[in-house]
Amino acid sequence: MSRIAVDKELCKKEGACVAVCPSRSLALDEEGFPEESGESHCIVCGHCVAVCACDALTHSGLPSGEFLPAAKELPDPAKIDNFLINRRSVREFKDRPVARETLEDLLDIARRAPTASNSQKLHWIVVDDGAKVHALSAETMKWMRASGTGEAMVERWDQGYDGVLRGAPAVIMACAPAIYAWGKQDCAIALTFLELAAEARGLGVCWAGYLTHVAGIHAPLREALCVPDGYAVHGGLMLGEHKYTYKLVPPRNLLSVQWV
Ligand SMILES: Cc1cc2nc3c(=O)[nH]c(=O)nc-3n(C[C@H](O)[C@H](O)[C@H](O)COP(=O)(O)O)c2cc1C
Repeated sequence: MSRIAVDKELCKKEGACVAVCPSRSLALDEEGFPEESGESHCIVCGHCVAVCACDALTHSGLPSGEFLPAAKELPDPAKIDNFLINRRSVREFKDRPVARETLEDLLDIARRAPTASNSQKLHWIVVDDGAKVHALSAETMKWMRASGTGEAMVERWDQGYDGVLRGAPAVIMACAPAIYAWGKQDCAIALTFLELAAEARGLGVCWAGYLTHVAGIHAPLREALCVPDGYAVHGGLMLGEHKYTYKLVPPRNLLSVQWV
C-alpha cells in the first residue's frame, strides 16, 4: 500500500517530488500525478513532501504537523567560516552544571544530522551530574592503570587531575547498534552537529576520545554508562561553560590535496 498520498486538487504536476526522491520510489502516472511505485524502497526522508511547492503530498510515516517551515535565507558564509575556525577543544570548565533544557536542545539538533539511508539508529547517553562524570573518569583510569596504558595520565590522576573528562559537568555519548555498518560515521556526524550547536550557545566542548575508547573494551565502564545490549559506543563529547577565552586561532598543517 502506498504511503504517499497526492491531493490531485492541489498538485500542479511539477514533478519535483519525483526528481528529488533518493530511492526513485516515485513516478508520474498516466495523468502526470506522482505515485509510489510498486518497487518502492522509500527511506522515509520526507524530501517529496518537503519540496512540494503546492502542499499536495502527505506521507503516512511522517505526520504533517512535524514538518517545519524551511529557512529562506542563507547565513552569512563569512560568519559561519569564522565560527568554525574559532571552534576550540575546551578542557577547562566552570564548576556549573549545563541546564537540562540546553542539553535537550542540543540533542534535538543532533537528531537532524544525516544518517546513512536515513536510518536514524542512534542512541544517546547523557551524564549531566559532575560526580557521575568523575566516576566515569575513575573507571576509565582503572582500566588504564591495569593495562599499563597512559602512564603520564595515571600519574596526573593520582595527583588529582582528571585528564579523561577534564572535570566537565556533562558528557554526551553517541551509540549505534553494533551490527549497523554506518554507526561510526552517523555518530561522528551527529556529534559534530551537537558540538557546533553547543559552541553556538557559548558552551565549551571537547571530544571524549579516552572515554569512548575504553567504553569499547572495559565492561565495567560500559555498565557505568548503561550502554544498551547490542549497542556500540562510537563517540562522545564533554561540555560545560568556558573558563577561559582564546585570543588567537592556532595554525594548522597545510592541506594535502590532489585534484584529479
Ligand atoms: C575523535 C577525537 C577524539 C578526541 N579525544 C580527546 C580526548 O579524549 N581528550 C582531549 O583532551 N581531547 C580530545 N580530542 C581533541 C583533540 O586533541 C583536538 O581536536 C586537537 O588537539 C585540535 O585542537 P582543536 O580541537 O582546539 O582545534 C579529540 C578529538 C577528536 C576529533
